[in-house]
Amino acid sequence: MNNTVFRLRPGGRLRGRLRVASDKSISHRSIMFGALAEGVTEVEGFLEGADSLATLAAFRAMGVAIEGPEEGRVSIQGVGMQGLRPPPGPLDLGNSGTSMRLLAGLLAAQAFDTTLVGDASLSGRPMRRVTEPLTRMGARIDTSEGGTAPLHIHGGQHLRGIDYEMPMASAQVKSCLLLAGLYAEGETCVGEPGITRDHTERMLQAFGYPVQKNGHRVCVQGGGGLRATRIQVPADISSAAFFLVGAAIAPGSDVLLQEVGVNPTRIGVIDILQRMGADLTLLNQRMAGGEPVADIRIRSAPLRGIAIPEELVPLAIDEFPAIFVAAACAEGTTVLTGAEELRVKESDRIQAMADGLQILGIEARPTADGIVIEGGQLGGGRIDSQHDHRIAMAFAMAALRATDEIVIDHCDNVATSFPNFVELAAASGLGISSREMGQ
Ligand code: S3P
Repeated sequence: MNNTVFRLRPGGRLRGRLRVASDKSISHRSIMFGALAEGVTEVEGFLEGADSLATLAAFRAMGVAIEGPEEGRVSIQGVGMQGLRPPPGPLDLGNSGTSMRLLAGLLAAQAFDTTLVGDASLSGRPMRRVTEPLTRMGARIDTSEGGTAPLHIHGGQHLRGIDYEMPMASAQVKSCLLLAGLYAEGETCVGEPGITRDHTERMLQAFGYPVQKNGHRVCVQGGGGLRATRIQVPADISSAAFFLVGAAIAPGSDVLLQEVGVNPTRIGVIDILQRMGADLTLLNQRMAGGEPVADIRIRSAPLRGIAIPEELVPLAIDEFPAIFVAAACAEGTTVLTGAEELRVKESDRIQAMADGLQILGIEARPTADGIVIEGGQLGGGRIDSQHDHRIAMAFAMAALRATDEIVIDHCDNVATSFPNFVELAAASGLGISSREMGQ
């Protein structure tokens, strides 16, 4: 496998207006619901990253005609709820946990068998969180002994609705069960211990499928259908987070991030950075395709360490690598608790970030469910991103406040969520270059 290496010149600042990569969560769901709908769904702003393209390829393999993506435009000829066909072989979902967990729910309800496989990272991630409740609904799914992929899903099972309280706050588990619930007999209800992203519920409604929401519970009745629609995918706040942090920490920065999705279930990073003292404003707030969108202006400001409120954790779950870099540049101590989920993302993000920050000379103490970071002066060094896109991009931004060069290994997976990160970051002022090296 190739090793994509990022090399960062220390210092600099970020300036300009930019639109970061499109939302990954919404892009995945646009393909899934578009494929199951009656009629043609037109998507604009689809994320052409490896993860959402893996979902697209999986539906093509199940007989769905999909045109594009071409400059973010995708046209999906929906096959209806019963129209998917058996794929010719295993569906390879690469690095994408969202694809695997959501598809597990959908495919558990089909008439045919499927096998889901992924890369080394995805093959190590916990899947029992979806296979257990699906089994209770009547699904038959084989996993490895450790409860990981490959998943072999037996088709032709009769699913019954369940009322399920998730043990962890996970939008992937919730969405998986709602997808299975569309096919199940009766009602499927999912309760969450903390608020998680609600793109599935919003998009189901946009496709004309009734969803009942009541506090931390969401229910669907099986047996309905989806009507094709148009979907406009906003920029991904999780990708914006790197620029928010970069601009916050680098003196003299002033950035306008355009058309960013600011769904209330995703804006924990804004709340956390503001609590740390960031100078951040939401402009031009509007609705686009059923999702709230805004332009975000951010200018550098001195940051201070905080205790991050636990209820913000699921609302910022993907943004912690970037937030940890902000914490390393803040005055004082930042404490995160209640975030054990970070240990089972594309990498163990608590360990990967603690290791990298320590290499850069920052005191970062990992705990079972979080981390304690003492703000300080970042030096330079060579860091392993562990093939995790968000670790790579977070440390790239750290260079803005470093005294020496930072080199980051295994940045290949930045392409899963933010294929033009290097170009956009360089155009905004980050001293970044990327090279492919043999392993
Ligand atoms: C996602 C949900 C989150 C997030 C992931 C995308 C989604 O995972 O980390 O990047 O699209 O539903 P969990 O729901 O497992 O926390």
